Amino acid sequence: MSASLSTFDSSSVASESRDAAGRGGSRPRVAVVGGGVIGLAIAWRLAAAGCPVDLFDAGETGQGASHAAAGMLAACAEAEPGEDVLLQLNRASQALWPRFAADLEQAAGTGVDLRTEGTLTVALTADDLSRLRHLHALQTALGLPVEWLGGAEARRREPYLAAKVAGAILTPEDHQVDNRKVAAALRIAALGAGARIHEGTPISRVETQAGRVTGVVAAGTRHAADVTVLAAGAWSRGVDIAPAAPLPVRPIKGQMMALQMDPAAPLLSHVLWAPGAYLVPRRDGRLIIGATTEEKGFDTALTAGGLLALLTNAWRALPGLEELAVIEQWVGFRPGSRDDAPILGPSEVEGLVYATGHHRNGILLLPVTTDVIVSQILEGRMDPVAAPFAASRFAPRAAAE
Ligand code: FAD
Ligand code: GLY
Repeated sequence: MSASLSTFDSSSVASESRDAAGRGGSRPRVAVVGGGVIGLAIAWRLAAAGCPVDLFDAGETGQGASHAAAGMLAACAEAEPGEDVLLQLNRASQALWPRFAADLEQAAGTGVDLRTEGTLTVALTADDLSRLRHLHALQTALGLPVEWLGGAEARRREPYLAAKVAGAILTPEDHQVDNRKVAAALRIAALGAGARIHEGTPISRVETQAGRVTGVVAAGTRHAADVTVLAAGAWSRGVDIAPAAPLPVRPIKGQMMALQMDPAAPLLSHVLWAPGAYLVPRRDGRLIIGATTEEKGFDTALTAGGLLALLTNAWRALPGLEELAVIEQWVGFRPGSRDDAPILGPSEVEGLVYATGHHRNGILLLPVTTDVIVSQILEGRMDPVAAPFAASRFAPRAAAE
């Protein structure tokens, strides 16, 4: 590679013989590209396991999609036809969340507000009701824990719901967490475990020698590593990973807003999915309303139409919110892959591992992603639940003869 590059800390790189995952007699030195929740959690766990870890973020950690998200852990409410394999991964991660949250809170000494009231998905019109019955049939066929509620029962559980609520599905295992607190806690935990965090340090490309990735390059400086983890969210395609093929990851814009409730008298305690909007009540009284889903690249514009649709749809389900103060609006970028599923595990090039493409479920998928990537790097073992999500699924197929 370019001879004009300076080299950072290469003397301390493990020099023992290594296998394909970069494992040697000592723990591998790891570079993590991207400091959203995914990169931070991997850095935390690897550093805690004894790896020298350097995490690089183009800006400040935790300010990408991990800041923008609603924090829903909604494997059941968001179940889609044809996504059975992804559902298994989502459910596996959902089950890991209570332990993950407890471990993180202990490591960081701060809370992450995992709330376990569950999620209500409501219908307001006859058309909504028939769609909801269809969703309920799908969820039931998939063996998911769901409960059908009549309108009166839904309003008994959430008294501020609109009187016209015609029916609801309760998904009691679909919890929520404050994703901003998770990102902040992960940063503390990663630093506490000994990871080094380099903010304001965009990685332009990986460094390759003799056919394997040997680290990353930022502003002309090499940072050597035995294993490089690409976890740059919606920006993952912007890192030159040649000779690996560019990843099919693109930004999917979401507009969101927050209103302020009285935390002592909140309008809502469950996560609420209404037609055209979801509402997520936080312990501090914030009511998150989301989200648009737009194919507009990295367009950061908040639009009148986007916010109007969110507010109108949220208001139809929870009319009392019209009295609340608007406290924040924002845009975030989901890292969407070609098939809307994450890209996890080894690349076609030695020394490069992927943890990206989490699309709408990166907060939900955080614990399982962390476990999968850590065991891949430390043990060379791909968890079977994650095997269908390898990047190799996008490799061009040989033409039929
Ligand atoms: P990010 O958090 O985006 O982090 C990527 C990081 O990489 C950034 O900090 C960025 O600065 C850094 N970076 C970029 N380029 C470089 C570079 N060249 N070098 C170094 N660093 C770089 N998921 C759920 O599970 N539940 C939800 O309720 C939910 N709601 C959502 C609502 C919205 C509006 C959006 C946008 C997303 C939502 N998601 C939700 C999805 C979830 O937020 C993402 O899947 C998840 O945060 C992805 O995490 P990440 O760490 O991969 O990416
Ligand atoms: N999972 C919610 C969203 O992506 O908007």
